Amino acid sequence: MSRVRVHNFSVSLDGFATGEGQSLDEPFGHAGERLHEWFFATRTFHAMQGKAGGGAGVDSAVTGTWDSGIGAEIMGRNKFGPQRGPWEDHAWTGWWGPNPPFHTPVFVLTHHPRPSVEMEGGTTFHFVDATPEEALRQAREAAGGLDVRIGGGPSTVRQFLAAGLVDHMHIAVVPIILGRGERLWDGLEGLEKNFQIESVTTPSGVTHMTFTRR
Ligand SMILES: NC(=O)c1ccc[n+]([C@@H]2O[C@H](COP(=O)([O-])OP(=O)(O)OC[C@H]3O[C@@H](n4cnc5c(N)ncnc54)[C@H](OP(=O)(O)O)[C@@H]3O)[C@@H](O)[C@H]2O)c1
Repeated sequence: MSRVRVHNFSVSLDGFATGEGQSLDEPFGHAGERLHEWFFATRTFHAMQGKAGGGAGVDSAVTGTWDSGIGAEIMGRNKFGPQRGPWEDHAWTGWWGPNPPFHTPVFVLTHHPRPSVEMEGGTTFHFVDATPEEALRQAREAAGGLDVRIGGGPSTVRQFLAAGLVDHMHIAVVPIILGRGERLWDGLEGLEKNFQIESVTTPSGVTHMTFTRR
């Protein structure tokens, strides 16, 4: 059976994975870029943008496996865009431009489905109103035997954790205090019992934690 994986998911010291007040100009709300500054500096991130350069140190090594063996992603509607409620039109196709970095089918969870959008480079966004189990069934079928990545945001990752569907998760704990936003861990008391957990802190100050299902 293919695995369900979470990669490069940044969480502040106080447990927030995004800030408050998401908008077109601020995808992470008041958090700005603070959750991801460490990641933007890596060679992995540069490669995602189709660019050369970036640090090739430990942060890059830890993050570099995010797309290996992945055949589909599932993300929440707020990772896809800042809109809420029914779509006013279908012009918005995500934050990532004409050639998003996913290069696989991407299932966007939403209570407001709309027609699928085929992008350049192999990414197709499908919009599904479904339980985590049903969305995963569809993503697995599309992934053709490869693994499925849960791309976030926090409320989507939390749902899949609560449903016991995550096999592998990489969390990057960033040494900042956000104070408000969307928490990852709420309602997941005792989650650690289900996973073998390892951590390593890198020179950037980020603690990388891997959760592998027991
Ligand atoms: N820290 C990180 O590494 C990281 C990674 C990825 C994203 N993010 C950030 O996280 C933020 C988004 O996270 P979020 O927790 O606010 O939202 P999210 O998980 O992206 O999306 C939540 C929304 O998706 C829809 N949805 C979720 N589950 C559903 C289901 N089972 N059935 C139908 N619809 C469902 C609902 O939208 P509707 O009811 O409106 O349809 C819900 O309000 C963004 O700021 C993004 O940039 C952070």
